[in-house]
Amino acid sequence: MRRRLRVAVLAGGRSSEHEISLASARSVLDALDPDRYETTAIEIDRRGRWEIASGRQSLPEAKEETSVETLPVVSDSPPAAVLGQIDVVMPILHGPFGEDGTVQGLLELAGVPYVGAGVAASALCMDKDLFKAVLRDRGIPVAQNVTLREGDPLVHPFPYPVFVKPARLGSSVGMTKVHEEDELAAAVALARRHDDKVLIEEFVLGTEVECGVLGNRDPVASVVGEIVAHAEWYDYSAKYDEGGMDLVIPARISAEASEGVRRRAVESFVATECEGMARIDLFVRPDGDVVVNEINTIPGFTATSVYAKLFEASGIPYAELLDRLIELALERHERRAGLVY
Ligand SMILES: Nc1ncnc2c1ncn2[C@@H]1O[C@H](COP(=O)(O)OP(=O)(O)O)[C@@H](O)[C@H]1O
Ligand SMILES: [Mg+2]
Repeated sequence: MRRRLRVAVLAGGRSSEHEISLASARSVLDALDPDRYETTAIEIDRRGRWEIASGRQSLPEAKEETSVETLPVVSDSPPAAVLGQIDVVMPILHGPFGEDGTVQGLLELAGVPYVGAGVAASALCMDKDLFKAVLRDRGIPVAQNVTLREGDPLVHPFPYPVFVKPARLGSSVGMTKVHEEDELAAAVALARRHDDKVLIEEFVLGTEVECGVLGNRDPVASVVGEIVAHAEWYDYSAKYDEGGMDLVIPARISAEASEGVRRRAVESFVATECEGMARIDLFVRPDGDVVVNEINTIPGFTATSVYAKLFEASGIPYAELLDRLIELALERHERRAGLVY
């Protein structure tokens, strides 16, 4: 009998999306086929301590059996040593210190295959300012913005409303839809609590849609889903409160617009050198023009999250999606193992 693959699921993390990551990771651990995979759950707590446990029920209960590792402290058995016994890691972490290339860098150093975008693509897609610069360079439409660093004057050329957001965060944390000039300073101050780089963006009027992308070299796009937020915009509570949003599949846009969304989604994935998976968020303007908003390299990953639902509707159920992502991680690792540095 073939040996089962040893899969470590990394969950939690230091960002404000800690709890969401735990929910995603539990869902992944439940769905990984026990005949094929031997699972280990690793929970990173809010302070960055690594708690390593075995077994599928171990997130985050069964604390007595866990050993504790802390980064970046070097100990007798640093995370790299533990990771050395693993065939593939699934980093199911959102936001800073998880989705931004930092953990991916550690996994590169440890030489372990891992699911999803590599170091550069993760860091790029986490940074809304750099991300837009790369897309603009490839001729992919994005919302106009100005980027403010510390000390920059609060000026922008856009009519109100505008969106103010921290450059490198997620889940709508630290973001404000600013309706008039008077509210601008407070919005920028709020965003600055989360990042020293802040974006002021033109408001894009249109249908908000999301598209999943899966693959390494020849990525495929899922069907397009439409986000109907039961709020003025898709803020934190619309995202995570029960009944805060509806996902409409397929999106109620023209066939042409839908093809445009799928094409732009794949182009964005390729332009940013993503691998494995990503969820691309876009707007479709009333005239059908497509604007890319952002890429999430580790999207919410429960069985009922948007990414999973979009692929389910595209004929790839959740458990199969996980199988494919693991295969893609191994394929990339093998391909790169032959490189000479
Ligand atoms: N320029 C914009 N025009 C219109 N709506 C926007 C704009 N930017 C953000 N939004 C709204 O805010 C939500 C969150 O913004 P987003 O840039 O995706 O940040 P996050 O990474 O926190 O999800 C979007 O889903 C959308 O509803
Ligand atoms: Mg978003």
